[in-house]
Amino acid sequence: MKNILVTGCCGYIGSHTVVELLNNDYNVIGLDNFSNSKREVLERIKEITNKEIKFYECNMLDAGKLETIFAENRIDLVIDFAAYKAVGESVEKPVEYYINNVSSVLTLLSIMKKYNTKSLIFSSSATVYGTPKEIPITEESEVGKTTNPYGTSKLYVENILQDVYKSDKNWNICILRYFNPIGAHTSLLIGDSPNGIPANLMPYITKVANKELDCLKIFGNDYDTNDGTGVRDYIHIMDLALAHIKALQKLETEKKGFYIYNLGTGKGYSVLEVVNTFEKVNNIKIPYKIVERRKGDIARYYADVKKAKKELEWEAIYTLEDMCKTSYDFMLKNKGE
Ligand code: UFG
Repeated sequence: MKNILVTGCCGYIGSHTVVELLNNDYNVIGLDNFSNSKREVLERIKEITNKEIKFYECNMLDAGKLETIFAENRIDLVIDFAAYKAVGESVEKPVEYYINNVSSVLTLLSIMKKYNTKSLIFSSSATVYGTPKEIPITEESEVGKTTNPYGTSKLYVENILQDVYKSDKNWNICILRYFNPIGAHTSLLIGDSPNGIPANLMPYITKVANKELDCLKIFGNDYDTNDGTGVRDYIHIMDLALAHIKALQKLETEKKGFYIYNLGTGKGYSVLEVVNTFEKVNNIKIPYKIVERRKGDIARYYADVKKAKKELEWEAIYTLEDMCKTSYDFMLKNKGE
């Protein structure tokens, strides 16, 4: 497989994965509609890799335009990142989320089928496990009982993909369930730069560090965790990007199938541990206050990563210190842009 179509190629996870693909000599055809990303990412990718991708500005719901990409290029495999991802916003705008995150995949699948491109890596999320019954969470842990439309949209797509594979075993599908990606590319040219006030912990902390926001609000310190604050499995974006290459190589070499992997580190850190580490490695104070729990939050979870280690020969190598350092350095290097 040489020609890889990457949807959402300018987004946070998409852009880091494109860099890894180019570094591994794949040809990348990318599409994005810049709904939550910036065009300059294309230049940054070129700066990091000295290579260019073939880019289409395209909304995936535009079936005509999407089909043009398949008509103009021989696509061997698709990595589908394009989706809305803000949990809180999804509660306010469920229809938009289901259209954007589910209908777009149906459009994509029907065109892939027409052009006989039956290899797909899909960006899913640990959110499909809902409130986990067991920790660490394995790929066999029960899914369902998602707590917001974003999570439910990922679950629906997983179910659709399972049905597609059941109907035709010529499909080759890999679902990757991400835990909490943070950090930035070591070049500091690409990273997480969400539009508006961030909903996620790390981009919020970096904005407080930059004095764009006064103070971090920690959502609850009365959870059943080591220090009462929520525990998550934070994974460096560089590790996450590399896992996509490993998944791709698996789809290239193994017999066709339907695979699911958790992508995390297998370690959980509390909000206070993240704040303390950020302060220590960057030598900066992060003012914070404890506020009410955020609705829908879960006390603690982290991944069981044995399956990815065994079958993808991949495991996360970057530390929480690396994640905190690159997040801050990326903000410093790119502020005001
Ligand atoms: N938190 C705060 N203050 C903030 C933001 C977050 O205390 O301003 C806390 C949360 O309560 C939680 C932890 O920091 O304990 C992490 O919260 P995030 O919002 O960064 O991440 P979530 O675990 O809630 O959700 C993320 C993504 C989802 C994804 C999910 C998968 O936002 O897209 O991980 O596990 F589905």
